Amino acid sequence: MVAELIKTYQARVELALDQCLPVGDLHPGDLHQAMRYAVLGGGKRIRPVLVYLAGQAVGALPEVLDGPACAVEFIHAYSLIHDDLPAMDDDDLRHGQPTCHKTFGEALAILAGDALQALAFQTLGQDPAMTPDPAIRLRMLGILAQAAGSRGMVGGQAIDLAATGRELSLAELENMHIHKTGALIRASVLLGALSQPTTDPALLERLDRYAKCIGLAFQIRDDILDVVGDTATLGKPQGSDRVLNKPTYPALLGLEGAREHAQLLHQNALASLDAFGSEADPLRWIAAYIVERPS
Ligand code: IPE
Ligand code: IPE
Ligand code: MG
Ligand code: MG
Ligand code: MG
Repeated sequence: MVAELIKTYQARVELALDQCLPVGDLHPGDLHQAMRYAVLGGGKRIRPVLVYLAGQAVGALPEVLDGPACAVEFIHAYSLIHDDLPAMDDDDLRHGQPTCHKTFGEALAILAGDALQALAFQTLGQDPAMTPDPAIRLRMLGILAQAAGSRGMVGGQAIDLAATGRELSLAELENMHIHKTGALIRASVLLGALSQPTTDPALLERLDRYAKCIGLAFQIRDDILDVVGDTATLGKPQGSDRVLNKPTYPALLGLEGAREHAQLLHQNALASLDAFGSEADPLRWIAAYIVERPS
C-alpha cells in the first residue's frame, strides 16, 4: 500500500538526516544544535519522499537516493528557518514548537540556515553512495543550486516580500508560487529521476511536467490551509497570511476557486504520468495527497 511505502521512506530519511547532520556536541555546539532542532523537529518530508518515489519510478535503488533526499530537506529546513524570522513572516511556531529563532536567537537561526544550505551541497557533492558519474553529479548540483537561488526559492521569497500588502494578478501570483515553493519540489523529482543514470530523457521531461504541477499545487494547498486549517494540526500559526496581508490563491480566487485550481493541476500532473505504468502509482497517490492534505 502506498501510504505504507511513504511511511517507510519518511522513516528512512529521518535516519539519514540524523546521520548526515553534525552531532549536537560538536563545536560550535549551539550552531549544530540549532541545525538539528530545525531539521529533526518534524515535518512531512514531502520533498525527500518525492526523491525516493521519482527514483523508484525509474528503477533507482533507495541507497543512491538518500543523499539527494537529505540535500533537498536541508534546503527546505533552511528556507523555513529564514521564512519564520521577524524580517520575513515573523512566526513563532513551527512543527508545534517555538521557531528556531525563538529558541536559539535570531543570529544563530540565520547561521543555522546558512550552514544547512552549505550542508545540502556538501551532501550532494560528497555522498559516497550516490551515482559516481561525475557529469550527473554536476548536473544535480546545478539543478539544486538553481532551484534554491535567486531564480528559484530565494527569488520567490523576494517576490513574496515585495508583494506583501499588494494585489497581484493571477499570473504574478503563479510566478511567485512557482519560484518560492515549486522550484524545490521540481528539483526533488528531478534529482530522484537522475539518480538512475539511464533514465530516458523523454520520461525525465514527463516527470518534470508532473513536478511543476504538483509544486504549484502544493503552495496553493498551503494557502488554503492557512484559511481553513487550525494551528494545532498545522503546527504553525493559522491565519498568518491574512495578518501579513499576503497575496494568496484563496484571497484572489476565493476558497472554491483555489480548490478548483489545485484540482486542475492535479489532473495535469496525472496526465503527465500517462507514459508510466504501475511503477508511478505512488507518484499518482502523492499528487492526490498534496491537494487534499490536512497539514
Ligand atoms: C511549508 O512546507 C512551506 C512551503 C513551502 C509551503 P511543508 O508543508 O512541506 O513543511 P513541513 O516540512 O512539512 O513542515
Ligand atoms: C514559504 O511559504 C515558502 C518557503 C519557505 C520557501 P509560506 O511562508 O507560505 O510557508 P509557511 O506557511 O510559513 O510554512
Ligand atoms: Mg513566507
Ligand atoms: Mg511563512
Ligand atoms: Mg503558508
